[in-house]
Amino acid sequence: MQNVKSFDDILNRESIFIDKKTLRRGYMPPSLEDVLHRDDIIKKYISCLKDALENEIPNNVFIFGKTGTGKTMLTELITNDLVKTAEKNNVKILVSYINCETNNTDTGVMKQLVGPLQKELDISDKKVSNSFSAYFHHYCDLINDFDGVPVIIFDEVDKLKNPDILNQFSRVQENRYTNKNICMLGITNDLFFVEQLNTRTKSALSQQEIDVPPYDASQLKDILNTRASMAFKEGALGNDVIILCSALAAQEHGDARKALDLLRVAGEIADSNGATTVTEENVYSAEKAIERDHVVDTISHLPTQTKLVILSIAKLFVENSKSRTKVTTPAVYDLYVKLCNKIDMRTLQRRRVADLIGELDMLGIISVDKAARGRYGIVNEIAINIPVETIFNTILEDMRFESLAEPAKESGQKTWF
Ligand SMILES: Nc1ncnc2c1ncn2[C@@H]1O[C@H](COP(=O)(O)OP(=O)(O)O)[C@@H](O)[C@H]1O
Ligand SMILES: [Mg+2]
Repeated sequence: MQNVKSFDDILNRESIFIDKKTLRRGYMPPSLEDVLHRDDIIKKYISCLKDALENEIPNNVFIFGKTGTGKTMLTELITNDLVKTAEKNNVKILVSYINCETNNTDTGVMKQLVGPLQKELDISDKKVSNSFSAYFHHYCDLINDFDGVPVIIFDEVDKLKNPDILNQFSRVQENRYTNKNICMLGITNDLFFVEQLNTRTKSALSQQEIDVPPYDASQLKDILNTRASMAFKEGALGNDVIILCSALAAQEHGDARKALDLLRVAGEIADSNGATTVTEENVYSAEKAIERDHVVDTISHLPTQTKLVILSIAKLFVENSKSRTKVTTPAVYDLYVKLCNKIDMRTLQRRRVADLIGELDMLGIISVDKAARGRYGIVNEIAINIPVETIFNTILEDMRFESLAEPAKESGQKTWF
């Protein structure tokens, strides 16, 4: 680690980065021309939306593919380009972007749509009762007054609490609420999402479809090279660093975001060590750090009851490792009840806790083996897939569990119970 004693030291030290933001999430290539290896997709996307240039409402488009394949980036760049080009043709296009991961309720979506449209039409805020239906009808009135093409992007559309609102948007003209349709662009990483929709919503959303494939290692390498030349000083990347980041991300599922994250974090590690080049070892360390962050993030966002369940499992795991016995569901339940009592929390029924254990299994934090036979009939055996310290340390940060931690006698570090 470089010697840092003041902010001046930070300001004056040599860094391997020129412009780190070009590796950050959310950074986008400036224009469609800077996008690599997506010519076919761009062509198809443009053809799906081209009618908008003539003030006609294009059919809805459903865009799907795994994470980090460029869906959000492409949609933003394509719609920006569409707005600009249509302007030249005196056609107005109003694009609303909704990230359904952060805005997933019916009324939340409507509020985000209504605000900018009122502004566009220069109408002052109208008092609307706080229900989906009231907002929806107000929105339809505004659309009638808007002379142009309304486009709504529903990014991460599978996260909507009630995806069937899409059906209502798709039928505004048919139901005579408006004099024109609304063009919806639905984006998802969840390939099974459409299967779960009701038939009407399914057919509404999938009028046109774009399947965005994963990148292979050599395509990822090209994407990283372009970004790296903006982000790092010349000569700052060791041999094969980019090849390694691309290969690791391609193994996962051809995820450009993962590749960029690996390169950025590897650079940060090298930089904080005061090194002048990024090494392959830095990339492997970055991979571990990202994995750890991901697990910590997942655990810290679990509901309180689930945290108590995983805590009971981790505690039993540590105790049982001495006697080499397996952690079983009845033992987890007994300890869970004790912990609930200790912090004055409501106790869930045995069956509900079994559900929570199933959810932890789905998240990959634990593995449940259903085959064991015990005193109570079939008993589930549980193994933990991540370091128990990570579980303890992450959960300890939640104030509600503070009373379960006690300082260890010698080290002063906190241990459990
Ligand atoms: N073909 C590409 N050229 C340049 N950068 C890309 C390309 N594809 C993806 N990226 C970058 O990878 C990251 C992830 O892309 P994103 O659009 O968020 O993926 P998705 O929405 O499919 O999960 C973004 O930073 C994006 O700029
Ligand atoms: Mg996205």
